Amino acid sequence: MIAAFRERFGTTQPRVFRAPGRVNLIGEHTDYNLGFVLPVALDMATYIAAAPSAGGKLCIYSENRREQHEFDAASLGGVERTGTWTDYPIGVAQELVRAGVPVEGANLLIRSTVPDGGGLSSSAALEVSAALALLAGREFDRLELAKLCQRAERNFVGMPCGIMDQYVSVFGRAHSAVEIDCRSLGHRLVKLPEGIAFIAVNTMVKHALSGSAYHDRVRECAAGVEAFAAVYPDVRSLRDVSPEQLDAVAARLPEVVARRARHVVTEDARVNRFTEASANGDVTVMGKLMVESHRSLQHDYEVSCAELDFLVEAALAIEGVYGSRMTGGGFGGCTVTLLRVEAVAGFRAGIVHAYQEHFGVTPRIYSCEPSEGAGEVKKFEIIPSLA
Ligand code: GLA
Repeated sequence: MIAAFRERFGTTQPRVFRAPGRVNLIGEHTDYNLGFVLPVALDMATYIAAAPSAGGKLCIYSENRREQHEFDAASLGGVERTGTWTDYPIGVAQELVRAGVPVEGANLLIRSTVPDGGGLSSSAALEVSAALALLAGREFDRLELAKLCQRAERNFVGMPCGIMDQYVSVFGRAHSAVEIDCRSLGHRLVKLPEGIAFIAVNTMVKHALSGSAYHDRVRECAAGVEAFAAVYPDVRSLRDVSPEQLDAVAARLPEVVARRARHVVTEDARVNRFTEASANGDVTVMGKLMVESHRSLQHDYEVSCAELDFLVEAALAIEGVYGSRMTGGGFGGCTVTLLRVEAVAGFRAGIVHAYQEHFGVTPRIYSCEPSEGAGEVKKFEIIPSLA
């Protein structure tokens, strides 16, 4: 990467920053309801080689897109959203300036191994790595960094996301899942049992609905909060609704809102049961909870799609699989499957075959190795080159 940087931008020695993608094990669409999530930072990441430049230009090159764009560092505040990938670094730059961190002329070379649009949080990986590259080693609180990147996505990109993706990209840890309390913004590392693996399978589709449906769900949840708060004034978000309160009020809610709320309330409970099962090494229960989570996302929250449902059913029919579910926002992207380590090879072959037969498309498969969160790449590290 350093060689590629020098070839493009001249001889300055860049610093290299890295921010990982994520897979969420359980706790879907709970983050913006201030509940619980349990993601894992992946070894797939976005890397940025960066160095200051004279002349006040912020120059950003993406190796994946083979595109270079230039901005005036002094007038970043006036840049408008374009609906393309540069919105992520520019949104971050604007938030940095707003937070009182000057952004000066710099050259950035970006290389990402997180599949684009695959639901493994390529956006958060780009935001967090861009923030680190623009900070260029200046001190910045890690939680504030995650929040700043979330603001960039909400304010500039226009996606009303929760905090999960940016948070785990910052706070991920090798060998652990990260249980995030999306209200207190504290987290706990969760050890995963031995002898198991998590595998993500990419449907290779991203349905157009994903963006607008996300907005709809955020609104439907807000409607739910209003209805519950009218009866229970302490309810500030769906996180506050107990299963008993859900039962008491559900029948009086619009049917759709009741189902959305039921997903969030039951999903929060599943996260807690999952971490407990993990601590006890009870992989059977972990798998069951993943399947329950998928059913709830499929029927109550309605963010799944035919491809995701197919992959889950096909996975559950394969020897050694404990559970499987869609992961991320939905309407395409990936499933995540929990299985015995010895079953991985058979699973890969079986799932690829089944999906090809049914959809005529070859799904990509990723092993989900819990990895470290974002930072500067200081020691020698092999950064995969792009195929
Ligand atoms: C997307 C959002 C996250 C979260 C998930 C669903 O990945 O960016 O904040 O809401 O969807 O769990």
